[in-house]
Amino acid sequence: MEAENLTLSQILEWYVCAGVDETCGDVPFALPPKVEDKPIPIVGLGVRQATSGLAQAVSSACQNARDICEKINTLDDLKLAVESFDGCALKMTAAHTVFGDGNPQARVLFIGEAPGADEDRIGVPFVGRSGHLLDKMMSAIDLSRKDVYICNILPWRPPGNRTPLDSEVAVCLPFLHRQIDLVDPEYIFILGASAANSVLNTADTISKMRGKWFEYQKSNGKKAKVLASFHPAYMLRTPGQKAKSWSDLLRLKTKMNEENS
Ligand code: URA
Repeated sequence: MEAENLTLSQILEWYVCAGVDETCGDVPFALPPKVEDKPIPIVGLGVRQATSGLAQAVSSACQNARDICEKINTLDDLKLAVESFDGCALKMTAAHTVFGDGNPQARVLFIGEAPGADEDRIGVPFVGRSGHLLDKMMSAIDLSRKDVYICNILPWRPPGNRTPLDSEVAVCLPFLHRQIDLVDPEYIFILGASAANSVLNTADTISKMRGKWFEYQKSNGKKAKVLASFHPAYMLRTPGQKAKSWSDLLRLKTKMNEENS
């Protein structure tokens, strides 16, 4: 059915299925994007049917993502594969796939949660207010985008910047794991609880995780050393926590210097 012919309740249902659970701002409610010849498994189902169908759709999308990743050996190919992957509904509402930025040979990988409005518009991670703060944080320990690689657990912006759903993270995680393997960093610095919980597979709070070293097992048998700290967006809202973030960054810098000498 053409988007223009949908009833208001069908449009609302489409948004519910896409994971939207609140409205914000005063932007008029848009029609779902027109998707040509590409079935979206959950569109057109009742919400209850969609819920049980969703588990199946998520599990087959995860398997599909894992199968795709198995065959990929370069970051460029992974980027193309993510861009053409249709198993995550977030892609339908996003303007860009936001894959990664920086130096693919970097010793350090920074991982955030998901693109925001600016990143979605431009197609590059951390280019909005949080990104400017991240740039300053990195420069405080003599790092820039030339020295690090930056990505997110999700390559598509969740509508209204809502917290990603577990199902969305699960579907995109195989791509992140492959991206980590291909960058092959010695260190991973995770920004915020949501990304830390996904990468480290825990449910701990960021206050509990920060300040300690963790390990991430890469597929080449080596381990990356991992620190988790506050998300820059949180620090913009809570500047009093900057000292803790600063101490986490220094911990990273000290370890990198020690292991470089
Ligand atoms: N917040 C994130 O977690 N990632 C971005 O790319 C931008 C904001």
